[in-house]
Amino acid sequence: MKTTDRVALNDWYAIATASEVTAQPVTTRLLGQDIEYRLSESGAPLVREILDDGARGPVLPVQVRYGCLFTSLGTPVKDIVHIEEAEEEDRRFVPCGWVTMRASGLRVVENFLDMAHFPFVHTDILGSEPHTEVPTYQSEIRRDVDEVWATNCTFFQPRIAATEDKGDFVHLTYRVPSPFVVMLYRVCPTSPNRLDAIALFIQPMEEGLCRAQPVMYLVDSISTHKALLNFEQVIFLQDRIIVENQRPLLLPLEPRAEIPTRADSSSIAYRRWLKEKGVRFGTTAGAA
Ligand SMILES: [Fe+2]
Repeated sequence: MKTTDRVALNDWYAIATASEVTAQPVTTRLLGQDIEYRLSESGAPLVREILDDGARGPVLPVQVRYGCLFTSLGTPVKDIVHIEEAEEEDRRFVPCGWVTMRASGLRVVENFLDMAHFPFVHTDILGSEPHTEVPTYQSEIRRDVDEVWATNCTFFQPRIAATEDKGDFVHLTYRVPSPFVVMLYRVCPTSPNRLDAIALFIQPMEEGLCRAQPVMYLVDSISTHKALLNFEQVIFLQDRIIVENQRPLLLPLEPRAEIPTRADSSSIAYRRWLKEKGVRFGTTAGAA
């Protein structure tokens, strides 16, 4: 059943990799609603709701951006996030593929923001003992753009990117431009005055079920496409185990529901922002 959460409905969601959309219709689900996408006779992507009796319902808005097909079940109040790095011609564009998770999409965002799990979940890749401390960083809700940012983040990583095989402190910036999209900017190891940009686009299917695709814009002329893909996929499959085992499955927005530590300040800002916006889909408040 389609959610009644207006905030969630009035947003854009990546639902497919654009290059994989063909004339053959594919059914998927968004916010509890079955939808179908395909290329129309004219070759343009077409997304429609599928009604309870199986009939084709309303045609939905469509945009192709960042290699993905985006749609909305409502009237979007904001455009899809603008990623400046996507316009730089020397960047490697690496769509990493979709991973389905039995988890709230909001949990997936929160896990993406969390540096404290690096040594324990991505052992010897994004973190390693004894370097378990998360140095102080800043988190804020940027009112002018209505986004959550975490800046001045640093963390010791044994292998900070596909090009690197030795450890160092990485410098990271996190950005949450909409409830189900999260980004990471990482000082590029091979070009320290530039930032690699990684976006995670989440398709919330049910409250406790989602798909997500990391899309990377990298300054890296060395690694093979396969190496870049492998690096990201290994990390993401490790994260899937974590998010699927979090309880409650849905994200609590009540401040006292889970005990935060200083390292969680980005998560606290994110939950506060979701609560202020009135997001319910994928939270313990429920939105069916
Ligand atoms: Fe992770």
